[in-house]
Amino acid sequence: MPPLEPRFSATMDKVGESEIAQVWKLGFEVPDVVGLWVGEGDLPTPAFICDAAARSLREGHTFYTHKSGIPELRSAVQRYHARVYGVEPAFERVTVTGSAMTGILMLMQAVLDPGDSVVVVTPVWPNVFAAIDIQGGVIREVPLKAEGDRWHLDLDRLFDACDETTKAMFIVSPGNPTGWMMSSEEQAAVLAFCRERNILYIADEVYHRFVYEGRGAAPSVLEVMRPDDPVSIVNSFSKSWAMTGWRIGWLISPPKLAKALDTLVEYNTSGSQAFLQHACVTALEEGEPFIAEQVERCGRARDLVMQRFAAMPRVRLMRPEAAFYAFFGIEGVTHSLDFAKKLVREARVGLAPGTAFGRSGQGWFRLCYAGSIERLRRGMDRLEAAL
Ligand SMILES: Cc1ncc(COP(=O)(O)O)c(C=O)c1O
Repeated sequence: MPPLEPRFSATMDKVGESEIAQVWKLGFEVPDVVGLWVGEGDLPTPAFICDAAARSLREGHTFYTHKSGIPELRSAVQRYHARVYGVEPAFERVTVTGSAMTGILMLMQAVLDPGDSVVVVTPVWPNVFAAIDIQGGVIREVPLKAEGDRWHLDLDRLFDACDETTKAMFIVSPGNPTGWMMSSEEQAAVLAFCRERNILYIADEVYHRFVYEGRGAAPSVLEVMRPDDPVSIVNSFSKSWAMTGWRIGWLISPPKLAKALDTLVEYNTSGSQAFLQHACVTALEEGEPFIAEQVERCGRARDLVMQRFAAMPRVRLMRPEAAFYAFFGIEGVTHSLDFAKKLVREARVGLAPGTAFGRSGQGWFRLCYAGSIERLRRGMDRLEAAL
């Protein structure tokens, strides 16, 4: 008898391998490739955070724990927001999640029935699309407009994309891949619309500390909202504290939604590891010098990227205001994925193809500049020679 084939759900047809992974995998076959495709820096988690986790492990914090997070971490998240934004969210609104990704999935589980739509500002980190697909939701893309060297959000277009099927709006600011940063006025306008229509405004703020001109944090919707507004803020320890491999983040939601999330945590992760959470308290309380060092390093890398691209006539670079990505168009390129593969094989430089981030990314590419300047310089040299 032939072996039985697994019987997959229809979801599996939708959530295939991402285009970033397709290009990244090619790189395994190319020696000495300079990969600028993934969304993380090259600094390991600082020792003071690792030490706190080790201490907690040794103290025996190895058991099941509170679903929405240990009280010490939920309180530390409250204090962190009070310090950075001058607004302290109530304790019961904070949910610790096993990464921002898990938080996003749980939000979709909490609000979507099959056929409900989510309006998403694009280009965007592709896992957002997958989270909607997994819940059987319908994705409505609203692309940012490239105006001069800045991205612009057309609010009328955003609001026109919503109808009675729309349960949520998903906006990543600071943006991945664009580096676009939403203003407080835009956040207030979106919030007013979402209030009127009772649409959940999901604000992904995982890059909130990577801001280069002026303030130390990007505008947060927390600054313009009321506690019971239909808003969930997604955040993560991954980027600001260089903890991508730890898998831990948090959500701030209206009290009733936070209660539903407390239920959902049980059936997703049954809570995040207590020893990681103790380390996260230390990260929030003692991490400012490390954040400043990281942002300063990324700022220098961003200057280099902008300077180098300015000398490449085929490149259209939008000015990245925040996060740690450059998103740029290459004149004459009609197929981003094919061209990104060609760059890996022939120029030994790895970029993420723009189409990974939505339909509007054709002809565009994302470069992550959160690494060492020497490596970045090598990557830019190869890219320049290839173009
Ligand atoms: C916009 C955005 N949100 C969330 C995440 C994921 O965060 P986490 O590592 O906590 O799942 C990423 C990772 O690249 C991201 O770009």
